[in-house]
Amino acid sequence: MVKSILEGKTVVLGVSGGIASYKAVDLASKLTQEGATVKVVMTANATKFVGSITFQAVTHQPVLTNLFEDSSQSAISHVSICKDADIFIVAPATANIIAKAAHGLADDALSTALLTASCTIVMVPAMNSQMWLNKATQHNLNVLKNRGIQIIEPEVGRLACGDEQAKGRFPETEFILNYMKDFLGKVQSLRGKTILITAGGTREPIDSVRFIGNRSSGKMGYAIAKAAKTKGANVILISGPTNLQPPFGVSMVYVETAQQMLQAVINNLSQADAVVMTAAVSDFRPAMKSNKKIKKESMPSSIELELNPDILEAISNKKDKQLVIGFAAETDNVLENATKKLKKKKLDLMVANDVSHPDFGFDSDFILAAFISDYGQQGSLEKYRKTELAEKVVEWIASKLA
Ligand code: CTP
Repeated sequence: MVKSILEGKTVVLGVSGGIASYKAVDLASKLTQEGATVKVVMTANATKFVGSITFQAVTHQPVLTNLFEDSSQSAISHVSICKDADIFIVAPATANIIAKAAHGLADDALSTALLTASCTIVMVPAMNSQMWLNKATQHNLNVLKNRGIQIIEPEVGRLACGDEQAKGRFPETEFILNYMKDFLGKVQSLRGKTILITAGGTREPIDSVRFIGNRSSGKMGYAIAKAAKTKGANVILISGPTNLQPPFGVSMVYVETAQQMLQAVINNLSQADAVVMTAAVSDFRPAMKSNKKIKKESMPSSIELELNPDILEAISNKKDKQLVIGFAAETDNVLENATKKLKKKKLDLMVANDVSHPDFGFDSDFILAAFISDYGQQGSLEKYRKTELAEKVVEWIASKLA
């Protein structure tokens, strides 16, 4: 028999109180049958729909229903339930638990357990369609999504309240199971691996207020960091100044200049399994930097520049086993120039990025890119959403590190 990806996994199943609570029993049972250890935590309202004893019977595990259970008597508590968890799924997730999670409230066993989770969290909302559509619920869902929490959207169908063809239905157990398996498969693919990513542009000071810099929003590197984190990697993101929020669970190192970025990369290189340089490193810096603001009257007639270190070239001489991936920003002969850079910088993969088109690159959410591997294979330039390209880069890394 083929081994299920769920075998040996620890799943925390949070059950909140709605008419779909009873359907979570089937989910708990199927997860257990596939070899997962399923630890159930219920809200007080959920226990009005299904007894905790039912979950205990199908999972063969104690069920947590109360924040004040005596932890010396009980095998689990709200602070220990997530220990060693591979995934935390809240199914069904009511509007109330979604709101609590979005705001970090912790007034019962489930909301408190959610705050202790460091694993991937998946929510399966199920509710009346008006509650689903309510701006407050949609806002809370967006807050959770931005925090990296996965949301399985409810289905359209007949709801318990009598609404026909309305959104809010709890999906079939099979659908949720497949989602979890798929997700765990992806999560596993970078588990135990460390990915070092650089993002954003560097700033090379002229004086204490002015700088020379490269255009870069950092979106590409942050998207790769998020995608790698989602696949279970330890992610170190070395970032130049950006307006972006650090992705959930990623170790951030903030730098300004190319020299600081080089140092940060070297400091973290030995623990990395792959390095992805999306940063727009300034190739040159002012040879002299004034520590004070240069007054207009004493404006220099020219600024002498000197070359910055090439970070990729520097690490290709120091690297050990690491996969090294670069991003080439090109306006002309994109594939040819990117291939030359791949060879010069001794990379395993170069993502050629055509920055000549105003609709792509820099501040856009889209990128015109092609993959060039160390074997010289070239894809053609294609339009990608940056988050989509991030997935592809991370999948490529996972396939090489497997
Ligand atoms: N890069 C680097 N160190 C630099 C400059 C670039 O590590 N001092 C990295 C970038 O992060 C990117 C790759 O090299 O992954 C290609 O960068 P790009 O700016 O396209 O090319 P350059 O090597 O700077 O060459 P040119 O500016 O002449 O196109």
